[in-house]
Amino acid sequence: MAAKIIDGKAIADKIIEGLKEKIDGLDKKPGLAVVLVGDNPASSVYVNIKSIACEKAGIRDMKQHLPENTSEEEVLGLIEELNNDSDVDGILVQLPLPKHIDEHKIIEAINPLKDVDGFHFTSIGNLFINREKFVPCTPKGIIRLLEEEGIEIEGKHAVVVGRSNIVGKPVAMLLMNRNATVTVCHSKTKDLGEETRKADILIAAVGKPKLITADMVKQGAVVVDVGINKVDDRLIGDVDFDDVKEKAGYITPVPKGVGPMTVAMLLENTFEAYNK
Ligand code: GUN
Repeated sequence: MAAKIIDGKAIADKIIEGLKEKIDGLDKKPGLAVVLVGDNPASSVYVNIKSIACEKAGIRDMKQHLPENTSEEEVLGLIEELNNDSDVDGILVQLPLPKHIDEHKIIEAINPLKDVDGFHFTSIGNLFINREKFVPCTPKGIIRLLEEEGIEIEGKHAVVVGRSNIVGKPVAMLLMNRNATVTVCHSKTKDLGEETRKADILIAAVGKPKLITADMVKQGAVVVDVGINKVDDRLIGDVDFDDVKEKAGYITPVPKGVGPMTVAMLLENTFEAYNK
């Protein structure tokens, strides 16, 4: 039987609608400052998507767009201003930053109480010791999708393919915090298929189009595709969707799977920051 396709867009829309209802009743609306440095085309698209989502939820979009040649000191100066601005509840610095700017230095300058991206050491440390505060948006969105579908995590074998700081590592931690047995695979894993076939829950987050094929998936597994790869002007995931959907129990599509959840979780984190 073909897999159930998880409609991330519908779940994200429902979350945003719920936030809007709460925010509509507030005199002062939450404010989110997304900082974009330069004109990386993919980043510009993502930042625009975030602006549109802010508008839908009733969150004040306090976007800051700086030119490519902005110095590290100038970016740090802006972060300090945003930290001290009581109208700003959440700060997100869109990555990647131009090469002359130290990304870690910038992220560490953000007030952890406004770290809606969950990338500050304080947020990561809290996640690590199972005191989840601001959780990175894509991993948080993945867990929410599983919860919304009533998929149990405890006791399951979860295999994460990819060990990035943004997705692989934090989602592995979230799964562990929910009592899954977690394997993390990466480019040096000897036999990827041997590992992925053990997965009850398989998360693919490597950025390699159609890397995961049906022979690498256990019958009935939950397959979450985090990949967004542009191939011939089409968006393709890390999972060979047409092949794998015949074998998996659940599968997320690309687009309209994990992507919209990332944005919904950013708005949710901003609302949390406002309430703190
Ligand atoms: N670039 C790609 N994904 C992300 C993300 O989740 N947050 C930020 N800040 N930058 C990104």
